[in-house]
Amino acid sequence: MEEEKAYGAHVMVLPFHGQGHINPMLQFSKRLVSKGLKVTVTTTLSNTKTMQAGAGSISLEPIYDDCSEGGLGGPGGFKGFIERFEASGSRGLIELIEKLESSNYPVKCLVYDANLPWALDIAKRLGLPGAAFFTQSCAAIASYYSMHQEMLGESPREPAFPMPGLPPLGLPNLPSLGSASGQCPPIVRYILNQFSNIEKADWVLFNSFDKLEYEVVKWMGKLWPVKTIGPTVPSVYLDNRVEGDKGYGFSLYKPDSDACMKWLNTKETGSVVYVSFGSAASLNAEQMEEMAWALKQNNSNFLWVVKTSEKNNLPSKFLEEMSDKGLVVTWCPQLEVLAHHAVGCFITHCGWNSTVEALSFGVPMVGMPQFLDQMTNAHFVEKVCGVGVKPRVDEKGLASREEIDRCIKEVMQGEKGEEIKRNATMWKELAKEAVNEGGSSDKYIDEIIDRLMSA
Ligand code: UDX
Repeated sequence: MEEEKAYGAHVMVLPFHGQGHINPMLQFSKRLVSKGLKVTVTTTLSNTKTMQAGAGSISLEPIYDDCSEGGLGGPGGFKGFIERFEASGSRGLIELIEKLESSNYPVKCLVYDANLPWALDIAKRLGLPGAAFFTQSCAAIASYYSMHQEMLGESPREPAFPMPGLPPLGLPNLPSLGSASGQCPPIVRYILNQFSNIEKADWVLFNSFDKLEYEVVKWMGKLWPVKTIGPTVPSVYLDNRVEGDKGYGFSLYKPDSDACMKWLNTKETGSVVYVSFGSAASLNAEQMEEMAWALKQNNSNFLWVVKTSEKNNLPSKFLEEMSDKGLVVTWCPQLEVLAHHAVGCFITHCGWNSTVEALSFGVPMVGMPQFLDQMTNAHFVEKVCGVGVKPRVDEKGLASREEIDRCIKEVMQGEKGEEIKRNATMWKELAKEAVNEGGSSDKYIDEIIDRLMSA
């Protein structure tokens, strides 16, 4: 029987179940394995089946059988799923950690998605260090934390706004929950619940890097033991030091890879506008119409991810009329698309993974945030990193075809476009530097590993 590999320490990783959460935490797990640790990722039964192919040397263990209860489509929708995941997942997590106690590699640390604070309580009860993992930016989390403090009737220890050293964020650039007037929707309580026991965490990890959010990291470092360990873009696209890493290796949706890559291979360098709004945001019919006619008016080649739920909102005959200029798919291999030389501009909702990926590939952006932290991320893209622009929107949040067309031109042409491209190249190098040997993120990961190995 093959000699079992000697690992340094065994870390358990518990991501929230969404695409924008599993991608960064799976990549972080691969980095830990590349540095000699044993890593077990625990999630729902359905995710372990989908992730098997791309797990590599990471062990996958289900702690909640969502299949038997209908998963996200089960009773009570999203809220019901979350409650079942917590109830069953808590029991599953305790049983798994206790079972491993008698193995050659008892669990030494739990890295949990900050959206699942109940996991930290379990780690502490079992005498384990716990690391909270935020899959959004430090700036967005700082905003939520300030709201959390205000909701508790406490003023934040230090005013998070204006963020020290940054252009004033202002209300429109706060995570959308913060600008919601009056009522505090259930999602707000859910999001702000992340802070309920954060002071007990041994580390607070972010998919970011020091030079990207320096001022915010410094401010937040006074509150919690913050470690920026990103970008968690697959190593193969950055420092290429994680052996066998070919990409996220996991997708909740089936990408139309062949069609996308064959089509891109026929296009000139920098000539394509790539449009995608992530896994959670969907454009309404009015915004779809404006986007469609903006792409037609702009007359650039375009690759547009239109989810099945949005398909009916496309103007009739648009697909036939634009088939010579554009390719419309329901999901694409976004990393390969952003890495392709033909892509010159990324129209994005500024979900944090998409934002970090575009920065890491040096792709200029047109930011069209829809909700949550996307507002703050789009502000960073335009005002802090200087790698994109935002179209003006009307009182309903609608960006017109003229505004979108203007922004595409501003990013892809002229003096401003050249400046944006220079900044994008700079951030691409800084992203690679952070994860490369001796970079800030690499050092933080080594620090954590050293502490676990000496425990
Ligand atoms: C969610 C929230 O919406 C976002 O605000 C928060 O910052 C993270 O959690 P999501 O909407 O899915 O994220 O967007 P994003 O963070 O950009 O993650 C999307 C992921 O899906 C990216 O890793 C992207 O590479 C991938 N993707 C997207 C594809 O692989 N193919 C696609 O066609 C579109």
